[in-house]
Amino acid sequence: MSKVRVVQGDITEQQVDAIVNAANQAMRGGGGVDGAIHRAGGPAVLQDCIARFPQGLPTGDAGWTTAGRLPARWVIHTVGPNHSAGQTDRSLLESCYRRSLAVADGIGARSIAFPLISAGVYGWPKNDAIDAALTTVWSTDSTVESVRFVAFDGDTCDRLRAAQGRDTPRRILEGVAALHARGFEQIRVLTGMAPSGMHWRASITDGETGDDDGSEDDGVLRYTTGAGPDFADAVVDRSTTAAEVADLILAALPRAREPRPDTVYAVWFARLMRLVAEHDRLPVAYSDSYVQEPGWEIGWGTGIRIDEPPPRPLAP
Ligand code: APR
Repeated sequence: MSKVRVVQGDITEQQVDAIVNAANQAMRGGGGVDGAIHRAGGPAVLQDCIARFPQGLPTGDAGWTTAGRLPARWVIHTVGPNHSAGQTDRSLLESCYRRSLAVADGIGARSIAFPLISAGVYGWPKNDAIDAALTTVWSTDSTVESVRFVAFDGDTCDRLRAAQGRDTPRRILEGVAALHARGFEQIRVLTGMAPSGMHWRASITDGETGDDDGSEDDGVLRYTTGAGPDFADAVVDRSTTAAEVADLILAALPRAREPRPDTVYAVWFARLMRLVAEHDRLPVAYSDSYVQEPGWEIGWGTGIRIDEPPPRPLAP
């Protein structure tokens, strides 16, 4: 499974094996990404397009050429559907990413940079273009190790990162459950809403004394949805496994050296995770903006509640 990262910048400057061009069916250059790549790559790119694609390419397909003077080795040209011209079949847009990864596999590219296909001149609604890009890359088996989405502007970058981070909270909770399964039942999590109500937050503690004194190594690992997919100095998204998240948590909480039993808590946490899965909502232990009742809430304002977690066992 390829690791996805979002960057803001110019696709022609990406130091990757292959950059993807948002081309058109004629495959003879154009504006936007197409124009930038042909300008930066030089005439060799166009010459290769003419030689390799005398009839151009159909919408949804992809093909490679030399990258000319670009830092990348190859350009993978793909033709997105033109939403502005009435081509609104999303499977054609998804095909652009799937076929580009297949072409990358064929030439042995290990790193690839995508622009947001069809989201410019071709007028595809940006949020849907982002969803099509992420879900297709996450669901496509490929030997490409690193996929980079290059956002040309800040708004696109923020939207891409927010979309990539949508599954991060659940993955973090699943990572804690995976640690309990490994015997690290001392690992606990406290969750809640930021005072603004804008972001969900989680604090993961290692159960050692001196928790949460705010210092750097106070045995607390923090996350906020404001950080999107960034967690524990890594990127956690839908493609990250619970085991990988568990490893990230242990690496970030060095005081949790040995697994320690706390079965009562692990059972409570398993109940919490069943409610989270059943209602597809995140648990909220605290929030400044509504009357505090005993226990935690599943979601915010849903009225679905679970009792407080059991107190930590007394040190042996
Ligand atoms: N680097 C990264 N992203 C870029 C760059 C760049 N240098 N230039 C533009 N973008 C972004 C746009 O902001 C948009 O989000 O790439 C996305 C795709 O925009 P377009 O290049 O317009 O591509 P598309 O919408 O697929 O339209 C393709 O436009 O340029 C013509 O010949 C091309 O006919 C084809 C059509």
